Amino acid sequence: MSDGGASENPPTPLSASHQLWGGRFAKPPSEAMAALNDSLWIDRRLWPQDIRGSQAWIEALEHAGILSAAERQTLHEGLDRVGERLAGGGEADATDEDIHTLVERLLYEEVGELAGKLHTGRSRNDQVATDHRLWCLEAIAALDTEVSRLGASLITQARAGIDLVLPGYTHGQQAQAVRWAHVLLAHTWPLVRDRERLAAVRHRVAELPLGSGALAGSGVAVDRELLRERLGFDRVSNNALDATGDRDFVVELLFAVTMIATHVSRLGGEMVTYSSTEYGFIKLSDDFSTGSSLLPQKRNPDVFELARAKASRTLGNLVAMLATMRGLPAGYSKDLQEDKSLLFDAVDTALVTLPAVRGAMDALEPVPERMRGALQESLLATDVADDLVAAGVPFREAHGLAGKLVRTAEELGTSLRGVPRDRADAIHAALPDILSRLGSFEESTQRRATAGGTAREAVLAQLESLEGRFL
Ligand code: ARG
Repeated sequence: MSDGGASENPPTPLSASHQLWGGRFAKPPSEAMAALNDSLWIDRRLWPQDIRGSQAWIEALEHAGILSAAERQTLHEGLDRVGERLAGGGEADATDEDIHTLVERLLYEEVGELAGKLHTGRSRNDQVATDHRLWCLEAIAALDTEVSRLGASLITQARAGIDLVLPGYTHGQQAQAVRWAHVLLAHTWPLVRDRERLAAVRHRVAELPLGSGALAGSGVAVDRELLRERLGFDRVSNNALDATGDRDFVVELLFAVTMIATHVSRLGGEMVTYSSTEYGFIKLSDDFSTGSSLLPQKRNPDVFELARAKASRTLGNLVAMLATMRGLPAGYSKDLQEDKSLLFDAVDTALVTLPAVRGAMDALEPVPERMRGALQESLLATDVADDLVAAGVPFREAHGLAGKLVRTAEELGTSLRGVPRDRADAIHAALPDILSRLGSFEESTQRRATAGGTAREAVLAQLESLEGRFL
């Protein structure tokens, strides 16, 4: 049931069963077939892109001598009116096959028989690929704005939290003391990469398929350069068979969205931990917390839990799209109709998740005393090893000696500094002195001043470099 262009027998204008391809069939599709095949419930939202694409198309048809200037104007205005009807929520219970069919049927209502000239030289194959790409360009801009806003929110919190020190974790174990800002910025840099990825995907999306016809090129000598320019694409596609069956841009955008969702999921997961009763490093604001129907004391981090979960759904969509494409021959197969529900769902999900997470991050309060209270002196074990290295001990040996000190402290049930002089001296002669000079957790952070480190200046340098990049 390929759609190779205008039907031989034009469908009855104004009929509710307007169809773009009925001519060669004796019977309309069965209800069961239509229920599976129809995509209007998914692609209705492409109406602005469909109208824009058609208005560019009729201009190209006029240039190619298919339409007179007057016809083009009538069609253009008719399409404007169709757009107004759809923007106003019209045709809510339309039963057309898809948005392209609905727009054409409404155009018949607006301008009569002349509507039959709209689809000259065009196929729904190049039409839908064009509409979808136009939609993606807008989606990318919206995603970029939301990712940027979340980054700005993290940066604001980081600036406020530059002097808060908490345990930094690897493997869920206390590892080294870090600044709260350092942790927040660890979730901000991934967003920089996300925005770079969106820009790269945008480049890929901005290739115009219109003028490819069904698979072999258009039979009308349309000026594809004019179409490209009118619709704001960067390039025209190079092969009509490829262009009508290419959904790489959908996969790539799905991947970019999945990466964003994954980053937000990791941030969410960490915030769930930090807001727990046991950690208590952060307090969520009332308007971004939820209660329990049974447990009156609860302040649940649903926003972060949902952010954590949404990434799985998006990943599912990415995998489904790739799985849909694998094994398909070049050119359009109806399988490709699935591209829209998968991408729309992923983008919608991201555009709901990002503002909620941003709001929660804006409003959360760090709890400095809980951060401080959680710092265990063993976090300074690396500093002890570094000091032994400064005293001339090779690092591998210093690491072992500091480890022994930690074990001794554990056995005695005391802190590193609490290990008696003679016991420390027995481990290494330089240790008693090193322990007496061992600094605070804050000083420990200051010892890591390499670019990207957690020392105040290094974090400030990160902040400076990030601030120009977000809204
Ligand atoms: N609704 C279809 C889609 O989204 C439009 C293209 C239909 N093309 C065809 N040859 N039947 O993919």
